[in-house]
Amino acid sequence: MPAEVRLRPYRVEDATAFDAEEQVPGSFEFFGWRSANTWLRKFATDGMVADERGNLVVDVKGIGAVGDVGWSPVHHGPPPHGFAFNVGIGLFAEHRGRGYGTEAQRLLAEYLFAYSRVERLEASTDVTNIAEQRALTKAGFTREGVLRHAQWRAGAFHDVVLFSRLRGD
Ligand SMILES: CC(C)(COP(=O)(O)OP(=O)(O)OC[C@H]1O[C@@H](n2cnc3c(N)ncnc32)[C@H](O)[C@@H]1OP(=O)(O)O)[C@@H](O)C(=O)NCCC(=O)NCCS
Repeated sequence: MPAEVRLRPYRVEDATAFDAEEQVPGSFEFFGWRSANTWLRKFATDGMVADERGNLVVDVKGIGAVGDVGWSPVHHGPPPHGFAFNVGIGLFAEHRGRGYGTEAQRLLAEYLFAYSRVERLEASTDVTNIAEQRALTKAGFTREGVLRHAQWRAGAFHDVVLFSRLRGD
């Protein structure tokens, strides 16, 4: 099944589909309402892939777009070598729990190590988000620890777990 999953650049219809997805207050992805055409505006700016950050569509053979992965720089020291990429993922609700999230994050790591000189990828998720912690572990990431009250969401600060994957892992 994982062989059916690939990452590809956004098309305009993908941005439209992401804008149309129901926003679910209380979920791990909800950080406040976003405007109806957020993704279309981002797509119009740079097609969702720029030099140091980007988003790609998670595409499953026979289904099409099931979600999105993204990356952006995190700086731990001065340039040019003091940076890592933080990676993230969101799958449409109906496509979760089928292994796509694990495979998409494995493919994203493979892609970033092949097409950039980055040494370290980071990913963080709510301490209660077991699906993402399992998916990251299965995608080759290592749990590093808990960042206390790192995220503000739904009226409270939340602890998040930090994972990393190094080029040599
Ligand atoms: C988190 C997410 C990317 C995981 O991808 P997925 O395709 O649903 O997960 P997978 O099918 O690859 O499963 C990965 C593991 O999580 C487990 N899992 C899946 N859904 C779960 C759930 N609701 N509760 C607990 N474990 C779950 C699976 O059983 C599997 O573990 P196992 O191999 O030990 O059985 C996806 O569910 C998602 O997009 N969720 C909403 C957005 C989000 O949370 N993004 C990441 C946080 S920033």
